[in-house]
Amino acid sequence: MDLRKVDSLASIAEAEDLDFSRLLDRPRLKIERKRSFDERSVGELTVSGNLRQVDSYDSMYSLGTMRSVLDTPGSSAPNPFDPHPMVAEAWEALRRTIVFFRGQPVGTIAAYDHASEEVLNYDQVFVRDFFPSALAFLMNGEPEIVKNFLVKTLHLQGWEKRIDRFKLGEGVMPASFKVKHDPTRQTDNLIADFGESAIGRVAPIDSGFWWIILLRAYTKSTGDLALADSAECQKGMRLILALCLSEGFDTFPTLLCTDGCSMIDRRMGIYGYPIEIQALFFMALRCALTMLKQDTEGKEFIDRIVKRLHALSYHIRNYFWLDFQQLNVIYRYKTEEYSHTAVNKFNVIPDSIPDWIFDFMPTRGGYFIGNVSPARMDFRWFSLGNCLAILSSLATPEQSAAIMDLLEARWEELVGEMPLKVAYPALESHEWRIVTGCDPKNTRWSYHNGGTWPVTLWLLTAACIKTGRPQIARRAIDLAENRLSKDSWPEYYDGKLGRYIGKQARKFQTWSIAGYLVAKMMLEDPSHLGMISLEEDKAMMRPPIKRSASWTI
Ligand code: GLC
Repeated sequence: MDLRKVDSLASIAEAEDLDFSRLLDRPRLKIERKRSFDERSVGELTVSGNLRQVDSYDSMYSLGTMRSVLDTPGSSAPNPFDPHPMVAEAWEALRRTIVFFRGQPVGTIAAYDHASEEVLNYDQVFVRDFFPSALAFLMNGEPEIVKNFLVKTLHLQGWEKRIDRFKLGEGVMPASFKVKHDPTRQTDNLIADFGESAIGRVAPIDSGFWWIILLRAYTKSTGDLALADSAECQKGMRLILALCLSEGFDTFPTLLCTDGCSMIDRRMGIYGYPIEIQALFFMALRCALTMLKQDTEGKEFIDRIVKRLHALSYHIRNYFWLDFQQLNVIYRYKTEEYSHTAVNKFNVIPDSIPDWIFDFMPTRGGYFIGNVSPARMDFRWFSLGNCLAILSSLATPEQSAAIMDLLEARWEELVGEMPLKVAYPALESHEWRIVTGCDPKNTRWSYHNGGTWPVTLWLLTAACIKTGRPQIARRAIDLAENRLSKDSWPEYYDGKLGRYIGKQARKFQTWSIAGYLVAKMMLEDPSHLGMISLEEDKAMMRPPIKRSASWTI
């Protein structure tokens, strides 16, 4: 049995069940208690006999089936799952993508597709793409590459970043980096892209959040507190947080974003307050809260985070949530309401509700819609945002269950023949022209516009395990196993059912490979979930009953 895992589970349950409001009053005590849990050695745990992994997973899975983190992939450790031949193949493919800097592994390139003529920027290490690779390595007991990556990207954060004559914020993390090897001089140099060479010249808001979330995953998985505690990492976190917690003209706690600032890195009508970024933001804030030190600088950020988390969860749980009942409420909205008594606070005009949503919305189930801002609700479904909302406990347990209900009820639309659409539905015709700016890569049911991305399999699996529905993940993995390897691990699939390999999809796309491995490992050993999941905070306000009643049906 792997005692390190038990340690990390115990600390999740006991340390992260934090009550934000109490943390504000008595921050020192709480944090110190948390730290002492994390620091508790495996030896202490064994001596005290405290092997209880106090959380919801132990009711579903017995410890006896857990596989050691140090097992090699496809090892013959007894477990109820037969190793699929694709697993060994995926590991081999993943290892081929490893990038070395001065002899040290520092990341994985986005795609290792030799058949493709244009490399574009797929030979770079993307921060967001590396995340599932990092999880795969951590779950397999290979933390070194993850640590090196965290340190290298932190170093890149310190660079001065400019787009033309404009200087970017200090905390911006790169979208990607590349190692340039000079064979004559025998030197390695790093080149990073902070948005200055990206299409649309957009800085990646998601990179810093993924970085913080990965730092916590690394800490949880290895028990190595020294990295997160180091002055460099503490400063790196503060710089990222300073960017997104700064005061401005905002009237909402959500983070204002431009199009193309995340995984969907082209114009797709994501601008405003996209759920993808809000869920990442929320999760990164919660992760930072578990790692920030209580020194003078850290304390200030902890206070700001706690306040923001309260407001953010309230806002998103209330205004982004859509189920049958709420759709009916919006459908009957009156407009032009002023003052505090307004029901339709953002003045959403019911005529702007798209036709498809009325059929799509099941009687049972719900989800967080894509975007909410004045007079604008983007009703599209986004997979990453909804799965991360479950993992971070931005969604209440009832909302999480409802999201899974919706996924089951709308399996054909959201999954079809391959998991999982990045967004649903596709924008077509006039709307596509206006919203995407006639983007030929984002035609209907392709790429970011209703395309299917196998990388989302790990997010779906994690959400399934967290909500106690591993059978849904198994169904999705079965679908992936029918095609992924045969199709050479495409970046994305096209079509309403996700049946066709994407028009311009790379083959051997690293995060498609890593996403599959992570999904498999998590299903096999659900205790891995602790790295990327946070339990619900008891004190976070629940949305008013009048709107939440339908979640419990
Ligand atoms: C594409 C995707 C982006 C990804 C990159 C590398 O640009 O839109 O999300 O990070 O490829 O795979």
